[in-house]
Amino acid sequence: MLKIAVFVSGRGSNLKAIHNAIVDGRLAAEICLVVSSRDDAGALTWAKSQEIPVLSIQSTSREQLAASLLAALDQQQVNFITLAGFLKLIPAEVVSAFRNRILNVHPALLPSFGGPGMYGHHVHDAVLAAGAKVSGATVHLVDEEYDRGPIVMQRCVPVEDDDTAADLAARVLEVEHVLFPKALELFAQNRITVQGRRVSVIK
Ligand code: GRF
Repeated sequence: MLKIAVFVSGRGSNLKAIHNAIVDGRLAAEICLVVSSRDDAGALTWAKSQEIPVLSIQSTSREQLAASLLAALDQQQVNFITLAGFLKLIPAEVVSAFRNRILNVHPALLPSFGGPGMYGHHVHDAVLAAGAKVSGATVHLVDEEYDRGPIVMQRCVPVEDDDTAADLAARVLEVEHVLFPKALELFAQNRITVQGRRVSVIK
């Protein structure tokens, strides 16, 4: 059974999508911890209302961040981490303790439109500025760099001629809510193998 920590910074719609998949019986998992990089994140309020243990990360050194994360993950017996809008870089100590057991959802088709500074509306602004005709969501494993780890699942959405960044963000977000729980389900079923950058699904 996956014992998941969900790392957030904002409203937490992906957190709720994961929660719904668990409640509906689509995902054999438990959300054991919600970690937020912001005190005022809506996701944090929601997690508290669900009586999920929470950790709010204050601005600290990389070493302190790693130590407090590892302590909380250990205390809640977390065996899988999901990043849903978490804005801080995951410390290398945490990446190596959870190698191939950290998933992020990114609101564009990696390896394009990712990396430092590519979050929120910046991603969709860049997609529109590039004139791309498709965008989408990517679920990928997390390594020591922003948005670089092996890709697990992607799904496209069209970019319409009159789209604003907000229009595109809303269209991509709908797909994220389907894709993220589906990717987690594959990990829960032990059906994922990773060889270098290639991630395969055992049928
Ligand atoms: C999502 O768009 C996700 O792709 C990105 O951050 C956003 C988080 O949204 N990494 P929410 O807090 O899950 O609603």
